[in-house]
Parts: sequence; C-alpha cells; structure tokens
Amino acid sequence: MIRITEPNFSEEEKRAVLEILESRQITRGSWTETFSREFAGYIGVKHCFTVCSGTVALFVALKALGVDRGDRVVVPAMSFMATIDAVCLAGGEPVVVDVDDFYTMDPNQLEDAVKKFSPKVVIPVHLYGGMADMEAIMELSERYGFYVIEDSAQAHGAELKGKKAGAWGHMGAFSFYASKNVPMGEGGAITTNDDELAKKVRRWIDFGESPAFNFRITEFQAAIGTIQLRRLDERNERRRRIASAYTKAFGEHFLVPAEREGSKHVYHLYTLRHPERDRIVEDLRSAGIDARVYYPYLLHELRDSLHLPTPRAERFRREVFSIPVHPYLTDEEVSYIVDSLTEIVSSGKIIS
Ligand SMILES: Cc1ncc(COP(=O)(O)O)c(C=O)c1O
Repeated sequence: MIRITEPNFSEEEKRAVLEILESRQITRGSWTETFSREFAGYIGVKHCFTVCSGTVALFVALKALGVDRGDRVVVPAMSFMATIDAVCLAGGEPVVVDVDDFYTMDPNQLEDAVKKFSPKVVIPVHLYGGMADMEAIMELSERYGFYVIEDSAQAHGAELKGKKAGAWGHMGAFSFYASKNVPMGEGGAITTNDDELAKKVRRWIDFGESPAFNFRITEFQAAIGTIQLRRLDERNERRRRIASAYTKAFGEHFLVPAEREGSKHVYHLYTLRHPERDRIVEDLRSAGIDARVYYPYLLHELRDSLHLPTPRAERFRREVFSIPVHPYLTDEEVSYIVDSLTEIVSSGKIIS
C-alpha cells in the first residue's frame, strides 16, 4: 500500500536521539529551547511555546485569551474534531460556520455569526495546508473586536501575502503529530507576537495556574522536530511539485484543489472532489493506494453547538477524498497514482 502519509528520518535524528540518551538530559533541555527559537523565527513571531499536542495548543491558546464557561468561539464546519473539542474542553460554546471554496472558514458567514452570536474568539483552520482568508478575517476582528487563533496544525510553512500561517492571528496553534509536515511523534506549539498573551500562555503551561497542568514535551521530540523543521521548505516544495503534477493530470475529471490568490499551499493533504467518491476510494484502495476521506463528519454533528446553515460543507463532505502527496513518494509512485486514478475514472465505471 502506498501510504497516505509517512514520516522520514535520517542519520541526523538518530544521532541526536542517541546523544540525548547519553547526556541523560531527556527533558527541559537545550533542544526544546532551540526548537522554540527556530520555530518562532521560521513563522516570523516573537514567541513560541511547545506543548504536548495540537489539541493542547488550541486549549491553552483559548485559555490564555480568557475563554471560559459560555464564551462563544466560532469554528468552521470542516476540520479535525480537535478544533471543536478544544473549545468544549476550555468551557466555551462552539458556533459552527460554513466553508468557502478553499475548504476554509467563509468570512461572509463569519460576519453573520459575529453579528448574531458575539463570539470572544474565532478559530480559522488552514485545512489541508491551504490558507484561510486571513485578510478578511483579521479585518472583521478589528471591526468587531474578537480574538483570532489560527489552527495551523496542517499548515507548517503555508503563506498568504508573504506572511506565514500562525503569524496572522493573535495566536497560532500547531500540531507535530506523526503525520504532520513537521512531525515529532506527538507535540504542539503556540505562537504569538503579543507579550501579554505570551505571559498568560507561560502560566498555563508551567504550573502558574491553579490547579496546574504539565504540558511539556521531551528533548527527543524537540530534537526530531528541530531537524525536521530545518528540512521543511525543501519538503514542502516537493509536496507542491507532486500536487502540481496531480492538478495537471486530474483537472479534467475532478475538482482539484485551488490555491488562494497570493498564497502558498503546503499540501499537507491533496484533496479532490467527485460525486462518486466512495467508489473511487474503494478502487484506489484495491489498487494499493491509501486514499482516505478527511473528514466524513462536520463539526456540528459531533458536538452540541450553535451553527449557521452549512450547504457547501455538506456537499463537500460527501465528495472529498485525499490521495498520498507526502514528499517521500518516488516519481514512480506518483506516476502509478496518476495512472491508476486516471484509469479508474476513464474506465467507464465512474461517470465523470
Ligand atoms: C486541523 C487540526 N487541528 C488540531 C489537531 C490536533 O492536533 P493533535 O493531534 O496534535 O492533538 C489536528 C491534528 O491532528 C488537526 O489536523
């Protein structure tokens, strides 16, 4: 099976892990500091705090912004469930809005939701590695006075108008789960340019609150993340080259992913749409290609929440499927995926 995603490590990661074992400084050491400094520099923000997962990064960001019982938080209908679960864990009341044609929060509907529900925080998600319309969302934030946390779990290195995901909002939240563009195994980070918010985040992650939590990562995770981060741009370029080959090959039969003007998509996932999605996914899997559906659910179906009508997300959810686009695919594997999917859709079984 050609896997939907897989991490890849070199001698450098192995050496670093062994050195950490030998040093016996296995947590709270120089790798954790190095990662935070380099990640902040890479994203272009003043502060970066590592935590043990992307879900925790979202939770801590919400808490640092003061979200508590009954505060409303807007999320898009399409995302991984952690986006809405972090809101529920923080005690907030989720408000779900529709997506635009880029699978990210629809700013027009966001404005309706803001007028109707007066949220404290809005969480746009850069789904699949493509940027949400941050210009429009930040303009609304200034006009209506809500905070913005960018869920950048799938968008390490994505950019809009030269500014990276995680540097647009008041705060950014990242995941370094094994499948992500920067994998650590498990891990997360919170980014911000705001010194006051940085102080609040520090209190949340380092026993300043009562009752207190421990959200730390180990030196092993930080070392792997640092070395992976140093290769991120090169690997994102490889993802973009594979995506461009797919888009050329599949544009005739499928709705291919669009790139927002002025943005750089980092193709955490390459997601197509077709009305006969289920048949196609089944055929791809029979051909040894690990096609998957991200996500078969909408967030307001999972948790109690307020929501506006979500006609786009409801249609997209029935039609989307993702194919392998990770940077370790060989050229032969990319050709095999192109040929197999073209054959599946041209064989007459599928009506395109
Ligand atoms: C969009 C999104 N948000 C949040 C998360 C949560 O991250 P984690 O799995 O590290 O808790 C993930 C990933 O898993 C994600 O894809």
